[in-house]
Amino acid sequence: MRFSTTALALIAIVSGVTAAPTKRQDSGDIDAVILQYALTLEHLENAFYKKALSEWDEKAFTDAGFSSKFYNDLKYVAHDEEGHVVYLEAGLTAAGAMPVAPCDYSFPMTDPKSFVALSSVIEGVGVSAYLGAAPLVTSKAYLTAAGAILVTEALHQSQQRSAIGETPSANVFGTPLGFNAVYSIASGFIKSCPETNMPLPVKAYPALTLVSGLPTAQGAHIDLQPKDAVSGEVFATFVSGLNVAAVAPQTMSGGMLMVEVPMMVEGQSYVFLTRDNSGNLTDSNIVAGPVILEVTPLAPTFNISIT
Ligand SMILES: *[C@@H]1O[C@H](CO)[C@@H](O)[C@H](O)[C@H]1NC(C)=O
Ligand SMILES: *[C@@H]1O[C@H](CO)[C@@H](O)[C@H](O)[C@H]1NC(C)=O
Repeated sequence: MRFSTTALALIAIVSGVTAAPTKRQDSGDIDAVILQYALTLEHLENAFYKKALSEWDEKAFTDAGFSSKFYNDLKYVAHDEEGHVVYLEAGLTAAGAMPVAPCDYSFPMTDPKSFVALSSVIEGVGVSAYLGAAPLVTSKAYLTAAGAILVTEALHQSQQRSAIGETPSANVFGTPLGFNAVYSIASGFIKSCPETNMPLPVKAYPALTLVSGLPTAQGAHIDLQPKDAVSGEVFATFVSGLNVAAVAPQTMSGGMLMVEVPMMVEGQSYVFLTRDNSGNLTDSNIVAGPVILEVTPLAPTFNISIT
C-alpha cells in the first residue's frame, strides 16, 4: 500500500507511547497527541468533502458556475483528505494506539457555492493548524510527514480560493495558529464525538462573532461581538501570516467592539480579543475568538532589480 514507507516512520515515533502508557508525558507522547489532533482535523475535512460530493453532482456544480474541471479536481481533494485519514490511522494503529474515530458534524452549507466558500476557509484553518503545531513536533521524521500534509492543504486552499475569485496566495506567509485556537474553530462544526475517542488536551475559547466586515480591507472598520460580555479593557489582536498586531477598539458599546483592521492584515486572517496588547497569544491573554477575517490584499508591489 502506498502509505507504508512513511507510516513506518510514524510507527517508530509513537511506539514509545504504548510501551509505557502510564509514564509521564515525554516527547513521544507529545507527537502522538499531535497525530491524534491532526487525525481529528482530517476526519472533519474528509467528512466535509464526502458530504458535499454526495449531496451535489457535477451538474449542480456547473449550474452554480463552476467548471467540470473544477468538479473533477474536487474529487482529487476528497481523495487527498481520505488519504490523510488512512495514513494517520495506519501510523497510530501500527503503533498500538487507538486512532480517534470520526465525529458527527454539521457544516453550514446549502449549495455548491457556500460549500466552496466554506472549503476555502476550512483548508486555510488546516494550513494554520499544521503550521502552529510544527514547532511542537519533536521528531524530525514526523515533521516531514506533517509538512507533506501541510503542502497539500495549502494547494487545496489555493484551488478553492481561486474558484471563488479570491487571490489564491494573498499573504507572503502562512498563518500559524495554536491548538486551542484551531479547536475553537473546528468545534463549531463538531456536534458530538464517540466517547471512546481519546480526549485531546484542547479547549475552545469563548466565542467571538464578526457582525460586519467580511470580506474586508486594511483600514476598514469591523464590528466584533463576544458571546459572553467582557469586562475591563480589551484589545483586538490580529494574526496574519507571521505578523501579529494588537489594537485598541475604536468604540465599545452594548457589548460590541468596533475595530480598525491594521495594515499588515492580508488574506485569511484571525482576530482574538485579548487582555493586553503584547501580541502574546497565550491562554491567559486570550479572552475570546478567534474570528476568521478575509482581507483583500493590496495591489502587489515588487522591485525587479532585487535579485
Ligand atoms: C507572554 O506570555 C508569557 C507567558 O505567560 C510571559 O512570560 C511573557 O512575559 C509574555 N510577553 C509579553 C510581551 O507580555
Ligand atoms: C530597487 O532595488 C534596488 C536594489 O536594491 C534599489 O537600488 C532601488 O532603489 C529599488 N527601487 C525602489 C523603487 O525601491
